[in-house]
Amino acid sequence: MAIRPRRLRGSIPLRRLVAQTRLHPADLVLPVFVREGIDAPVDISSMPGVVQHTVDSLVDEARACVDAGIGGIMLFGVPQAKDARGSGADDPEGILNVATRAVVDAVGDRLVVMTDLCLDEFTDHGHCGVLTTALDGSIVVDNDATLARYADMALAQAAAGAHVLGLSGMMDGQVAHVRAALDDAGYTDTLVLAYAAKYTSALYGPFREAVQSSLSGDRATYQQDPANATESLREIELDLAEGADIIMVKPAQPHLDIVAAAAEISPVPVAAYQISGEYAQIVAAAERGWIDREAAVFESLLHIKRAGAQIVLTYFALEVAGRL
Ligand code: PBG
Repeated sequence: MAIRPRRLRGSIPLRRLVAQTRLHPADLVLPVFVREGIDAPVDISSMPGVVQHTVDSLVDEARACVDAGIGGIMLFGVPQAKDARGSGADDPEGILNVATRAVVDAVGDRLVVMTDLCLDEFTDHGHCGVLTTALDGSIVVDNDATLARYADMALAQAAAGAHVLGLSGMMDGQVAHVRAALDDAGYTDTLVLAYAAKYTSALYGPFREAVQSSLSGDRATYQQDPANATESLREIELDLAEGADIIMVKPAQPHLDIVAAAAEISPVPVAAYQISGEYAQIVAAAERGWIDREAAVFESLLHIKRAGAQIVLTYFALEVAGRL
């Protein structure tokens, strides 16, 4: 046999030399939660190891990200009071905007600070937009009225100093609408990260505990159906045409085919989000001793990068960065 593929796998140094995919801390973004009205961090039971931060503990976490060489941080707010229009979202004194100012002040020159731009954390009904009554009498999410709320949120987040706005609501036209609002107000350098292909998923469960979501039902009228692949390309093309600076696929590991397809066509960086339920599955199995946590985490992130994601949002970011 002249050809023996196993020769390339014979030792750790050889395998290291020929590895096509590597994890680097700078590729990772840590999603974090900051909650209004608490004076110590609160554990999230379905996400062991992840907490709802106070503003102060969040700033400490952001400093830890800098020390670990992590690329960025994605902030989610958990307000004390919620209402139908999500008023806390664009209030300059709302928790997400207060926390953004604090993090940007502390580490904004050394870490990319991203904010979730969506209403679900702030609405008392838990939907990603405002509601209206359709012609047939049913209650639906009002796409175009929601765009106006997103524009106000974008201006509040940009004013708070966020570098990148993460548009996660899956409303039609959201990227163009927010881009125009930012540009009109002079925020031409604020980036838009578009959750371009965002699928509805049972794996968002732990996140809904983390943000104390009051959602009943699902988001199937606006998030994509996991049965479909082709519409992701349409969503991605639209977001690119509307001016997205970075596009994202989410959840990550269940949709690696979409990550690969996005990487093939996208002229801008592609991100993927390893979501709360992906985190919880690994942590829970490892807690039972059924899988090796360190190896499973490493593998999961490698798969996402190999599929074509340049940037990975993961709750394991700090844990992994320390080992790279
Ligand atoms: C919407 C948003 C969600 C997540 C990120 N942005 C919730 C949802 O779509 O239901 C989920 C992230 C995760 O599960 O880790 N604001």
